[in-house]
Amino acid sequence: MIALQELIKETLTRVWHVPILRVLSVSPARYADIRDRLTKLKGFPPGDGTISTELRTLRLKNLIEQQPQPNTRRKAWALTDLGRTTLRLVDQFEGLTNPDKVQAEERRFGMSMDELQARAAAIDPTVPHPARRYDYLLGGKDNFAADRESAHEIEAVMPTVRLAALENRGFLQRAVKFLATQGVTQFLDVGTGIPTSPNTHEVAQAINPASRVVYVDNDPIVLSHARALLMSAPGGKTAYIDADLRDPGSILNSPQLRSTLDLSQPVGLLLVAVLHFIRDDEDPTSIATALIDALPPDSWVVVSHATFDHLPSDMLSKVEAPNRDGRFRARSRDELAGLLQGLDLVAPGIQSVAQWWAEQAPQPRPASEDVAIYGAVGRVMNS
Ligand SMILES: C[S@@+](CC[C@H](N)C(=O)[O-])C[C@H]1O[C@@H](n2cnc3c(N)ncnc32)[C@H](O)[C@@H]1O
Repeated sequence: MIALQELIKETLTRVWHVPILRVLSVSPARYADIRDRLTKLKGFPPGDGTISTELRTLRLKNLIEQQPQPNTRRKAWALTDLGRTTLRLVDQFEGLTNPDKVQAEERRFGMSMDELQARAAAIDPTVPHPARRYDYLLGGKDNFAADRESAHEIEAVMPTVRLAALENRGFLQRAVKFLATQGVTQFLDVGTGIPTSPNTHEVAQAINPASRVVYVDNDPIVLSHARALLMSAPGGKTAYIDADLRDPGSILNSPQLRSTLDLSQPVGLLLVAVLHFIRDDEDPTSIATALIDALPPDSWVVVSHATFDHLPSDMLSKVEAPNRDGRFRARSRDELAGLLQGLDLVAPGIQSVAQWWAEQAPQPRPASEDVAIYGAVGRVMNS
C-alpha cells in the first residue's frame, strides 16, 4: 500500500486528480456527469481520453470505486474511504500557501508544517482504531473497512454497542453542561475522538461563550479533523494537542495548554471513554493521578469507563474475544473507584452513564447491561 503522504503529494501534482475527487465528494457520478461537472468546475473540458485515464489511475490507488446505481445496470464512480480522507488532507494542505497562515497553524498545533503533514498522513486504514470505530458506531463516515469489521465483531457479542456509544456521548454532553452550569469555563478533554457535534466547546460555549477547551488525542485522524473542525466561537478559545495520555507530562507541559487555559482557575478534566485503552501495566492510576494533581483548586473531573459488571455471566467470555490487540481493559466499579481517588463524586456517584443526570436525558433510559459503561463526575478535593 502506498503511504498516505505519498498519495497526497502525488494527488496534488496531477491536474485532474483533485477536481475529480472533489466532484465525486458531492455525489457518485457516471462518466458523462463527471465530464460535465469538471467542465463547470475548471471552466474548460478535460482533453479526450483524460477522464478515462485519470479514473483508471484513481481506481488503482483505491481512491475511487464503481458502485451499482438504483434502477439501472450501469455503475457510478464514487469516493472510497481512502479517497475521502485523502481529499480532506489535500484540502487542508493545499490551502496553506500563505506564510502567515502556515505560521498560525504551526503555533496552533505546536509542530512544524512538515511534522503536521507527516502526522496527519500517518493514518493507517488497515488497522482498526478506537476513534474511527467509535465514529462508525455513532453513525459517522470517517472510518475504514478495518474499523467497521472490528465494530461488527464487537456487535456480534454485544448487539447494543451502538446504543452504548450514543449513551456515552450523551453522558459527555450532559456532564459538560453540568460543569458549565457550575461556572466551569475551562476544559481539558483528553481522548477527544473524531469531532461529533455538539463537541465539548459547543456545549460549554452555548452556556458561556467565553469557554476555552483544550482537546488531546493521539490518533492522527483526530488531528486531521481537529485542524478543520474544532473552531471556537468568537470570545472563547480552542486548542488541540497531539499527545498520548500515557505521557501526561506531554499534555501538562504543552505550550498550547498553557496558552489556552489559566491554571490558576478551575478546569474540567474529561477522561471520557479513554481510560479503558490504558492497560494495567501502563499504570492508569498514576496517569489519572498525575493529571488530577495538576488541576487548580475547585476543578472537576468527568470520567466514563467500559465495565462488564452488569453483563450476564454467559456473555463475559464472549465480550473479551474481540479484544485482539489487548488494548481494551474493562474495569469493575471498585477498580474505577481506585482510579478516581481524591475526587468528591457528585450524586449518583459511579453509575451507568445512562443513569447519570438521567432526568436531563431522553426517556425512557436504557438498561445498564445494554450500555456497560460507568460514568462519574467529581470535584477535586484540595488537600
Ligand atoms: C471511544 S473514543 C471517545 C471519544 C470521546 N471522548 C467520547 O467519549 O465521545 C476514545 C478516544 O480516545 C483516544 N485514545 C485512545 N488511547 C489514547 C491515548 N493513549 N492517548 C490519547 N488518546 C487516546 C482514541 O484515539 C479515541 O479518539
